[in-house]
Amino acid sequence: MLRAEVVLIWVSCSVLLLSGHLTQGIGVNWGNIMSQPLHPTTVVRMLKDNGIKKVKLFDSDYRTVSSLAGSGIQVMVAIPNDQLQLFSNDYDSAKYWVEENITSHLYKGGVDIKYVAIGNEPFLKSYHGVFTRHTFPTLKNIQRALDEAGVGNKIKATIPLNADVYDSSTGKPSGGSFRKDIREVMTKIVKHLNKNKAPFVVNIYPFLSLYANDNFPMEFAFFEGGSKPIYDNGVKYTNVLDANHDTLVWSLRKAGVPKLKIIIGEIGWPTDGDKNANVRYAKRFYDGLFKRLASDKGTPLRAGRMDIYLFSLFDENQKSVLPGFFERHWGIFRYDGKPKFRMDFSGEGHDKLLVAAKGVKYLPRQWCVFDREIKNMSRVPANMDFACNYADCTPLVNGGSCSGLDIKWKTSYAFNIYFQMQNQAMDACDFQGLAILTTKNVSRGSCLFPVQIVSAGERLKFGSMLTLLLMMIMFTLLLL
Ligand SMILES: *[C@@H]1O[C@H](CO)[C@@H](O)[C@H](O)[C@H]1NC(C)=O
Ligand SMILES: *[C@@H]1O[C@H](CO)[C@@H](O)[C@H](O)[C@H]1NC(C)=O
Ligand SMILES: *[C@@H]1O[C@H](CO)[C@@H](O)[C@H](O)[C@H]1NC(C)=O
Repeated sequence: MLRAEVVLIWVSCSVLLLSGHLTQGIGVNWGNIMSQPLHPTTVVRMLKDNGIKKVKLFDSDYRTVSSLAGSGIQVMVAIPNDQLQLFSNDYDSAKYWVEENITSHLYKGGVDIKYVAIGNEPFLKSYHGVFTRHTFPTLKNIQRALDEAGVGNKIKATIPLNADVYDSSTGKPSGGSFRKDIREVMTKIVKHLNKNKAPFVVNIYPFLSLYANDNFPMEFAFFEGGSKPIYDNGVKYTNVLDANHDTLVWSLRKAGVPKLKIIIGEIGWPTDGDKNANVRYAKRFYDGLFKRLASDKGTPLRAGRMDIYLFSLFDENQKSVLPGFFERHWGIFRYDGKPKFRMDFSGEGHDKLLVAAKGVKYLPRQWCVFDREIKNMSRVPANMDFACNYADCTPLVNGGSCSGLDIKWKTSYAFNIYFQMQNQAMDACDFQGLAILTTKNVSRGSCLFPVQIVSAGERLKFGSMLTLLLMMIMFTLLLL
């Protein structure tokens, strides 16, 4: 009873407070597929320190979402793909989900939730259609639940889609239309979004165009021109972002919703794990991107400022490498919340390092390395495989930041990254007697041998042990 009333008050307050609220500025994607994530409050402070106004999440994890309360940061929460089926069949579950995960955060000084992402790229070709049936019904059920909770005016359900949901029959933007196998459902979806004043969210990756095709003209992935332009009905395209974006504009026109708002849900450049994934190219890409955003030019078919979310905030060492070894290196920040290179969100070229996460605690200053006294190398490959099966060895691949090391140093890299991932547990630096500890920083050139941070998970475990202890003491006192 009480709870229902409280929720009602929250809802009415937040509707009053948040309607008509407009947020500008750069957004970022905040994922957490990592072994030692930073504490959410540390991350929120870092976002604020850097003037980041919007975040896009990949779930609705309670701790993460609540950490954004009162931050002034606008939030897109998400329902993961594997939960879409639940909400597609059952409106009551959708309603309950909205109560638990949305309206409970809406109170004075609460979380500024603006969008609910239904799945993440659910129509990706490589998923072979497993989520296709459940996506649109879930979109409808969640928007209806938002509407019935009285927040539908301000909070919109949408679907972050990969740019592979459309293609062009001519190779030019004007040949664009939604992919044949999903054209029917995509047409229904965009009409629904249009009717509900919800945006179309698309992820566009110039890096992947380059990665997928060795003949792709390199300059076209960046923004300085210099490659052969594409001419399309008198419109000139000098970079793949514009061309790709306007292929979507054409697809929307053909689907009957020419004015549907477009948000770029993910855009960025990775810094390791591939020959084109490095700090130099990433900096070049972001410099060009921010300059373009600042010009407010938009694309040839859509004038005005683009609404974008950078991909991504952090390197995530437990992401699948199925898309490629670069997949764990999209962060504009490293695993520990340190910036990787200088940039300027304003696009005015006042390059500086972003503000690092504050109050980050590191494990002791020690590394686990291959013991150079060892002469018999026969056990090295199996032990390296073992380490790299668990930990992230992608900097060792061709083109990676540690690919220039010799075999002994590569072995050391693998041993250390495993040891750090295991929170420097003593038995994690043995490898059948091949490894030893050192307190000498063994980082070499571009290849960083990291020392892991004390992760939020660990601190929380410690915290809850303390709570348990306190409760036991109180309980004992009560009994006396
Ligand atoms: C939010 O939704 C998820 C399912 O997506 C659920 O597991 C979780 O418990 C919900 N509630 C809160 C308070 O996070
Ligand atoms: C090296 O070690 C392996 C396995 O421990 C052993 O079978 C092999 O005989 C050793 N080789 C030499 C040259 O000692
Ligand atoms: C080790 O050295 C590298 C560069 O040489 C540096 O970036 C890193 O911060 C150092 N690590 C520690 C823990 O001092």
